[in-house]
Amino acid sequence: MKTRTLPAGALLAVVFGFSGLLTAQQPAAPASVENKYVGGQVCRTCHPDVWLNFNKNPHFKSVALGNQPQEKTGCEGCHGPGGKHVAAGGGKATIRAFSQMTPPQALETCLTCHSKDLSRANIHKSAHTEADVACNSCHSVHKAATPKFLLAKQQTQLCYTCHADVRAQFELPSKHRVNEGAVQCSDCHNPHGSFATTWGTGTGSAMLANARENEQPCLKCHIDKRGPFVFEHEPVRVEGCATCHQPHGSTNAKLLRRPVVFTVCLECHNGGGAGRQNGGVLTQTSSHNLQDPKYQRCVLCHVRIHGSNSDSNFLR
Ligand code: HEC
Ligand code: HEC
Ligand code: HEC
Ligand code: HEC
Ligand code: HEC
Ligand code: HEC
Ligand code: HEC
Ligand code: HEC
Ligand code: HEC
Ligand code: HEC
Repeated sequence: MKTRTLPAGALLAVVFGFSGLLTAQQPAAPASVENKYVGGQVCRTCHPDVWLNFNKNPHFKSVALGNQPQEKTGCEGCHGPGGKHVAAGGGKATIRAFSQMTPPQALETCLTCHSKDLSRANIHKSAHTEADVACNSCHSVHKAATPKFLLAKQQTQLCYTCHADVRAQFELPSKHRVNEGAVQCSDCHNPHGSFATTWGTGTGSAMLANARENEQPCLKCHIDKRGPFVFEHEPVRVEGCATCHQPHGSTNAKLLRRPVVFTVCLECHNGGGAGRQNGGVLTQTSSHNLQDPKYQRCVLCHVRIHGSNSDSNFLR
């Protein structure tokens, strides 16, 4: 997404405000001008459009408070000291211009203040950061479509600009109503990265927005599945909801991974302790005659399939 190639040193110089290095390209900036903080009022003269919208911006808070140090307040909180820029009559190379930054540079600029809200460690190892999708890919400070969270587009549309394939999953017959606005991507995902999961293999992150400390996001809404149950169905907590369900949507009822329930069950309960779980998983007893269609509808009898407080076989 780089619009212009500058040598790395020059980019760093912009970020850290050592714009003196670039004066060769900036005829109007005399070397004698110290790069001082000049206060946001000065910016108004030449950037009236940006200035006039700024009092509605959550970043205006630092101005309204009136007690913040210069490097943390107003326009210069992000763009750095404006002294040289003003003396030069403008220019992109005389001030921290986001349009000239690489994604990691923009990210570090935002994190000087936001590492309190966002975990630095998680954001640095997130699939987004690794793919150079940084703050400005999703947020727009001056032209936000949503005043809250300053998103560049309404959330679902924002995510679909890059994850177009996911839209179709939310059109399937059984689905979370994300396209209808009832559920949001951020109910289950944290676009800023997240901790490794404590369920499944602990590696498949998919940047999930955990419930409480480290529970599956699903439990925020489906609280009846949280337990703890006296008789727990091991895979629900240990391997995770997505073992049996397709979280976005499915052609099968109840978002199941397989078209008929018993084929979900038989992935594990498939006889003789063999199969994926290898030992540990009971097979059905001889009373279960799978030739009898009745027995194929496992959850007709095993109604508490997510865990039970009264029956070890989840029959009630
Ligand atoms: C929270 C950080 C932040 C603050 C505070 C901030 N800006 Fe920006 N500014 C940005 C970012 C990021 C961009 C790049 C475009 C975008 O993401 O909206 C930008 C872009 C600009 C641009 C380029 C034109 C444009 O609209 O894209 C100008 C000019 C500008 N800012 C001036 C200002 C002025 C004047 C103020 C104070 C009234 C200010 N900025 C406050 C982050 C900030
Ligand atoms: C004397 C007029 C003037 C003043 C005062 C001024 N600017 Fe600028 N600014 C400009 C001009 C001209 C440009 C170059 C625009 C271009 O090249 O598209 C510019 C560019 C910028 C850019 C880069 C935009 C980009 O494309 O990424 C930022 C950021 C910026 N100004 C912020 C500020 C801030 C913050 C202040 C107050 C400290 C300020 N300006 C004061 C005239 C001014
Ligand atoms: C100088 C410190 C500072 C910098 C740098 C900064 N922010 Fe902020 N940001 C704040 C403060 C303070 C708030 C207001 C928090 C509040 O409302 O309590 C805020 C609010 C926000 C919000 C809105 C949160 C909400 O609840 O609606 C977003 C989004 C945001 N910042 C994104 C960014 C991005 C993106 C950047 C980099 C381009 C950035 N910020 C740079 C200090 C900063
Ligand atoms: C992939 C898109 C994406 C990227 C990249 C991204 N954000 Fe966000 N951000 C969001 C969305 C979506 C929300 C709203 C979350 C919600 O609705 O709960 C948000 C919310 C926020 C908030 C307010 C709520 C909170 O979690 O504290 C802040 C502050 C923020 N982002 C800052 C940043 C900063 C700083 C960066 C870069 C380091 C960044 N974001 C990168 C999409 C993104
Ligand atoms: C109901 C919770 C939930 C919602 C809502 C949700 N996701 Fe997911 N998503 C998940 C889970 C859980 C996984 C991991 C799937 C797995 O482990 O098999 C995932 C995986 C993903 C993946 C990586 C795997 C893949 O399919 O490529 C992407 C990308 C993704 N989601 C994007 C989105 C976007 C974009 C939205 C909103 C339009 C969204 N998700 C809404 C729960 C959700
Ligand atoms: C600017 C493009 C862009 C935007 C906007 C964007 N993403 Fe991504 N996203 C990516 C890229 C690139 C990757 C990494 C490669 C991949 O897995 O496709 C990724 C990966 C993901 C993953 C998979 C993580 C993993 O561990 O496999 C999830 C989940 C995800 N994004 C969710 C979201 C959500 C939710 C939003 C909206 C808030 C969003 N993305 C917005 C580009 C984007
Ligand atoms: C933000 C709340 C929320 C989160 C988080 C959430 N769900 Fe849901 N879920 C719902 C709602 C609401 C419905 C009802 C469907 C509808 O309204 O169309 C639903 C429906 C379902 C259904 C189908 C129920 C039926 O009767 O057809 C399943 C299965 C399901 N969710 C599983 C999950 C899983 C697995 C996760 C985690 C990956 C999850 N949910 C995360 C709110 C949520
Ligand atoms: C071992 C497989 C399995 C696991 C793991 C699993 N489910 Fe289910 N779930 C099912 C089956 C089978 C049904 C269909 C039940 C029916 O049709 O009566 C179902 C139905 C549902 C329903 C809709 C009916 C109801 O009981 O409300 C929701 C919601 C749901 N599951 C959420 C979850 C959540 C959340 C998790 C993780 C905490 C989870 N499931 C883990 C197998 C599983
Ligand atoms: C991902 C693997 C997996 C899937 C899929 C699965 N189970 Fe299980 N199930 C287990 C494990 C592991 C146990 C625990 C066995 C133990 O505690 O000895 C268990 C235990 C049970 C028990 C209780 C046995 C006992 O006495 O402890 C019943 C009944 C049961 N499952 C029925 C089902 C049904 C019905 C389905 C389909 C809806 C299903 N299971 C899907 C892995 C699975
Ligand atoms: C008609 C009701 C009914 C149906 C349908 C049913 N079961 Fe059962 N299941 C039971 C009863 C009753 C028990 C406990 C008594 C027993 O062991 O036979 C049981 C026990 C189990 C056990 C534990 C075995 C043990 O040794 O403790 C497993 C595993 C099991 N069922 C899996 C399944 C699976 C998988 C299906 C679907 C293919 C299924 N059941 C369908 C009634 C049913």
